[in-house]
Amino acid sequence: KREKIIDLFKKAELIGTEVTVMGWVRTRRGNKHVQFVALNDGSTVRNIQIVLDMTRFSDEQLKPITTGSALRVDGRLVESMGKGQTVEVQADNVLVYGTADPETYPLQKKGHTLEFLREKAHLRPRTNTFGAILRVRSALAFAIHRFFQERGFFYLNTPLITGSDCEGAGAMFQVTTLPLNELPKTEDGVVDYSKDFFGKPTALTVSGQLEGELGATALGAIYTFGPTFRAENSNTPRHLSEFWMIEPEVSFFDITDNMDLAEAFVKYCISYALENCRDDIEFLAEHYDKELIERLNFVISNDFVRLTYTEGVKILEESGHKFEFPVYWGADLQSEHERFLVEEYFKKPVILTDYPKEIKAFYMKQNEDGKTVRAMDVLFPNIGEIIGGSEREENYDKLLARIEELDIPMKDMWWYLDTRRFGTVPHSGFGLGFERLVLFVTGMTNIRDVIPFPRTPNNAEF
Ligand code: 4AD
Ligand code: MG
Repeated sequence: KREKIIDLFKKAELIGTEVTVMGWVRTRRGNKHVQFVALNDGSTVRNIQIVLDMTRFSDEQLKPITTGSALRVDGRLVESMGKGQTVEVQADNVLVYGTADPETYPLQKKGHTLEFLREKAHLRPRTNTFGAILRVRSALAFAIHRFFQERGFFYLNTPLITGSDCEGAGAMFQVTTLPLNELPKTEDGVVDYSKDFFGKPTALTVSGQLEGELGATALGAIYTFGPTFRAENSNTPRHLSEFWMIEPEVSFFDITDNMDLAEAFVKYCISYALENCRDDIEFLAEHYDKELIERLNFVISNDFVRLTYTEGVKILEESGHKFEFPVYWGADLQSEHERFLVEEYFKKPVILTDYPKEIKAFYMKQNEDGKTVRAMDVLFPNIGEIIGGSEREENYDKLLARIEELDIPMKDMWWYLDTRRFGTVPHSGFGLGFERLVLFVTGMTNIRDVIPFPRTPNNAEF
């Protein structure tokens, strides 16, 4: 008898039967003869209309039914005459579980701005917008597991507390049980971590890749899917301090295999969301981004453009476009450059490869030219970089030379180097920023709006 609201719309056989629904009031309107309550239980973006015949309910019963209150309604599901409604519930009984004082409940029936809702992150899942975003996010997570599991990849859990800096960007949150200023120092003034919890410096991981490589060189093909942390002080609509990353890693796999996998993977996820989250995506398109569905369909039905960094830089240099940051061979591409290539020039997602080694991480496979590495970044419209990956340097001597060149502390890397000492193989992988995928699929423009509890500089309230 108890039904999810989504099923009231979907299951025709429920029409004419007695149903019980439970949810939160979005709005109430009407007159002294009949009142209409829009109820939502989180199962769908659609509200079910509850019809209260006022010959059966008193004003006293009605009073606590305000926006945000929680109800149980028993009644009959009937086809609706109302415009835009397919079915509604004619109420026999209403039980109020919890009231929401209209004076203090922050979410009122008028639409709130996304900025306002960011300040109310603890309650915003109760809005239609965030309900839709969170359902899409959940569906995408499921699609990700399904994609890899269907292809024989194993889900590998890599540590969140680590002693190594995978990206070498020095943007790690330290993990210690002692206040940093209380850590003892050695005679030459270096912090002595031997008395700290792990007996060595540790931090929250920026990427599970290095441990992922251990898995891939044993199980063949793995993927990780977990939180990663970056203490970069970049307050942008594309960066979080805590974000989720999916990192497949595959043995006997070169950069072309890697590009094919990345392209098939994102297309699969987007198609899955289009098929399984239609109402939510339509809702978001209607309210925030009229071109959303067209854009998603375009991306899944067209090949991504593939070109080298060197070719990309040439296009940017010859474009005559005024960029805020200069473009020249060797420069790290900024999001304005990436977006120019994707949105203005090719008008398609782009996979850029073979970047200068100076702007990429130590583990990438070095090309014959001595200048570039076998990196690949997937660039998306409205997003910029959505995926970063590479073929890995599998040659022990070359990898060691690069580690020494970059002055990476060797003692932290011995276990990683063992993959190249024992049974080394060509292998490749990449990292997809989960929130950037959710951004793309929902048409949102600020990454803070696609994760339930965003962590950014000066923001860890909830
Ligand atoms: O390009 P990145 O730094 O690559 C790596 O971490 C590699 N270890 C991945 C691999 O090869 N296994 O990060 C990968 C992706 C980026 O393309 C971007 O989508 C996302 O992670 N990302 C962020 N997303 C949100 N907030 C941040 N601060 C992010 N930094 C990276
Ligand atoms: Mg990157």
